[in-house]
Amino acid sequence: MPVPMVGREVERKEIARAWSELDGSGPRTVVVTGDAGIGKSRLVSAVLADLAPEAATVLSGAARLHSPAPYD
Ligand SMILES: Nc1ncnc2c1ncn2[C@@H]1O[C@H](COP(=O)(O)OP(=O)(O)O)[C@@H](O)[C@H]1O
Ligand SMILES: [Mg+2]
Repeated sequence: MPVPMVGREVERKEIARAWSELDGSGPRTVVVTGDAGIGKSRLVSAVLADLAPEAATVLSGAARLHSPAPYD
């Protein structure tokens, strides 16, 4: 059974605010960092689902930690 999103209100608002401040003059960057399992991916998913206006395109990628080259 899926577990509902709990908390992270401050972080969700902060990312939503950065999104709302985009005015075509340039990009904004939000860095989500923390230990494995702390909820980074879940936070990003929850924010993406709530963005207004909705994101037209979402690009995602992943880096391998150690091999063959760190964070390649
Ligand atoms: N705020 C939250 N509410 C409910 N479940 C959460 C929350 N944050 C993380 N989880 C759950 O904990 C697990 C690990 O979270 P995840 O986002 O994959 O961590 P990370 O990306 O930081 O390694 C997942 O099953 C995720 O759904
Ligand atoms: Mg993750």
